[in-house]
Parts: sequence; C-alpha cells; structure tokens
Amino acid sequence: MNKQKPCVIWFTGYSGAGKSSLALEVEKLLIQQGQQTSSLDGDIVRNGLCQDLSFSKQDREENIRRIGYVAHQMVDAGLIVLCAFISPFRDGRDKVRALFKEGEFIEVFVDTPLDICEQRDVKGLYKKARSGKITEFTGIDSPYEKPLAPEVHIKNVSGHDIEESAQLVMNYLSNKT
Ligand code: ADX
Repeated sequence: MNKQKPCVIWFTGYSGAGKSSLALEVEKLLIQQGQQTSSLDGDIVRNGLCQDLSFSKQDREENIRRIGYVAHQMVDAGLIVLCAFISPFRDGRDKVRALFKEGEFIEVFVDTPLDICEQRDVKGLYKKARSGKITEFTGIDSPYEKPLAPEVHIKNVSGHDIEESAQLVMNYLSNKT
C-alpha cells in the first residue's frame, strides 16, 4: 500500500561527525519522493526513551538495543527509518542488523575524522571531555569501532557537501531496489 520498500538507514560515527544533519537531508529527499519516513536521533532519544542510561559500554549497548527494536517496529509498519547514533560498538550494530531481513539494514559510516569533529566541537563537549568535566566520551576516553563493511561509506562530511553526501545514500537506495 505504501509503495515503498521499508528499511532502516543507520548512521554511525563520532559525535559531531554530521550524522544528524545528513540523516535530515536524506529524509528531506525521501519525503520529496513521496516516501514515508520516521527518524530517531541520539540527542532526542537520550532525553526520553533512554534518559535512564549513561555512556558506559553497557548502557550504550542497551541504548542501541532499545533503538533497534523501535526501528524494527517502524520498519514493520512500512516506514523508512533513519537512525543517527554514535553506536560505537560493532557488536551492538551487528545485533541490530540481525533483527532485520537481508537488505533491510543499511549502515552508513559517517567517517569524519576525530580531529575535525573536535575542531568543530559544535556542542562544546570535546572541550569538556579533554578537561575531564565529562568522562567516557567517544574518541577521547571511550572507543569507536569503525564499521568493516558499511553499505555506504561517506568521508569528510562537511557543511559544504552535505547534499552530495545525501545523494550517495540516495544512489545506494535506488541501486538496490
Ligand atoms: S551512543 O554511544 O549510545 O550511540 P548516542 O548517539 O545515543 O550515543 O548519543 C550521543 C550524543 O550524546 C552525542 O552526540 C553527545 O551530544 C552526547 N553525549 C553526552 N555525553 C557523551 C559521551 N560521554 N560520549 C558520547 N556522547 C555524549
């Protein structure tokens, strides 16, 4: 009925890598094509559904596990779901992938190097992490495990080429259907 192939587009990368901006841009393009979407974003989910969770390894895994199940429900309802989470652990991402049918989980590695994310420091969190005001910050004192075989690999996302980067995701989607 929806005339679309439901899937989850999962954006992973450092804080400040551009995951949310890219997800928003892709969502805009999908909506322009008449597709029905929904989006889940780290900063929003952590103020609601997952506000009880910290940034320990265990709590990050729980965060991603919950989001995986929510995304799964939405895909079941026929939507194209955009998820933007650091999701630093390969195992956690792979567990979410395993909830979906072949081809339904599209991992997009937003591969902005740590030094660039830190230079930008949009939310001032890297500064706080460097000075020890916050701990277990990804890339500073908590690890990030890069995807080994993401469906889409986007290097150096920046304000200038966000549309171009979004187009790479769109190209992947149209080539796969
Ligand atoms: S995840 O690791 O569990 O996937 P998630 O994407 O939900 O993280 O949340 C990341 C956002 O929380 C960051 O963009 C940042 O704004 C904020 N944040 C606050 N503390 C931390 C921290 N210690 N490590 C990483 N992000 C943090």
